[in-house]
Amino acid sequence: MSEQNLKSMAELVALSKSRGFIFQSSEIYGGLGSCWDMGPLGVELKNNIKQTWWRSMTFRDDIEGVDAAILMHPEVWRASGHVDNFTDPLVDCKACKARFRADNIDLTAPCSNCGAKDSFTEPRNFNLMFQTHMGPVQESASVVYLRPETAQGIFVNFNNVQQTMRRKLPFGIAQIGKAFRNEITPGNFIFRTREFEQMEMQYFIKPGTQKEAMEMWKEIRWNWHVENGLRPEKLRWKAHEELSHYADAAFDIEYEFAHGWGEMEGIHSRTDFDLKNHQEFSKKNLQYVDQMDGNKKYLPYVLETSVGCDRCLLAVMSDAYRLENPGDAEKERVVMRFKPSLAPIKAAVMPLMKKAELEGPATGLLRELQKDFKCEYDTSGSIGKRYRRQDEIGTPACITIDYDTLTDQAVTVRDRDTMTQERIALDKVKSYLKDKFSL
Ligand code: GAP
Repeated sequence: MSEQNLKSMAELVALSKSRGFIFQSSEIYGGLGSCWDMGPLGVELKNNIKQTWWRSMTFRDDIEGVDAAILMHPEVWRASGHVDNFTDPLVDCKACKARFRADNIDLTAPCSNCGAKDSFTEPRNFNLMFQTHMGPVQESASVVYLRPETAQGIFVNFNNVQQTMRRKLPFGIAQIGKAFRNEITPGNFIFRTREFEQMEMQYFIKPGTQKEAMEMWKEIRWNWHVENGLRPEKLRWKAHEELSHYADAAFDIEYEFAHGWGEMEGIHSRTDFDLKNHQEFSKKNLQYVDQMDGNKKYLPYVLETSVGCDRCLLAVMSDAYRLENPGDAEKERVVMRFKPSLAPIKAAVMPLMKKAELEGPATGLLRELQKDFKCEYDTSGSIGKRYRRQDEIGTPACITIDYDTLTDQAVTVRDRDTMTQERIALDKVKSYLKDKFSL
């Protein structure tokens, strides 16, 4: 058997739309720049990714979760440095008005959009935070920001979590939530968008222990991506040479997307930058009293892991995509080889024909499986066509109820990857799926 990996983002965009993973936002109005909606299968896949992350973080002894508001006190963003520093250098082409990030293009070259020479304006700093107004009056005093990262909702809750949960260092706080950035050049499908979701964890540690915390979290986070099914050869580390205003060390986990290598997750040693600034701006004491070290008072350092949920989903979809036997009219198939626990649909139940005597046991089995898994019931088209459709959405098992079922009380279970079929007793199907696919 020959097989191809994903060759272009266009293939994934087409499959996402045709099979119900991802749609363009406000499509019937012509779409909204770089905003995307998760369709029925996309939201399942994304929820499964989020759940895996959430469990890996909070099913531990040392991490609590929070879900902070998107809108925060505007001082938060002054303290965090985002009002002053969260900018990209922007240039316009004077001829065609196209906009570019000045650090992404050669300013001496002709405009890549219209070909005009010497047409760029001087670079100016453009703040990426979206602004809105709190309350009915639109004045400067009512400006609030849509958060550009979830992390600050964790920092401002440091005292609350530490005290209510009686936490000792080291401990972490995890959060999943929306973030917004008015990116100058969004693109590559859901890789860089203006509204996205982050899964962030801040690990509060004793100053001086940041190197060992970095090593620990680098290993944990790399393994998490591999456990989700990403091929290790598609992953690599990138050490930051230029550090953000808050960091003393930073590494990215990059994935080889269809458009090239790109950052998927950042692991940042943020020192006490955030707590120190919030303490100064809020005038609230955020120091930790270390009972293990003579009641010494200090601001904890922070080791952050920050992964974009949508980028992670893009990597999971890109990695899962296979075109098998390309060009062979009979054997060609697209199959999404998701790790079964991430697959949006775990099993498809299919009566061989749309006949009452088959649909009875088929719906009975469906109801039983639905107590534990997300399943689909499919009666339309030939069995071969139904298998192909389930392959394209990555369903690990297809279960066919045929006329033999009526006498032997067994069904045929077909494996997505090997396409092998096994006859399984009706009352054993659920445990079989659980064992075989670790569902
Ligand atoms: N709190 C640290 C922080 O936000 P970041 O490197 O700016 O760090 C972390 O972002 C992760 O968020 C990135 O690795 C990426 O996965 C995701 N991300 C950032 N900007 C994004 C965008 N415009 N669209 C989609 N995901 C984005």
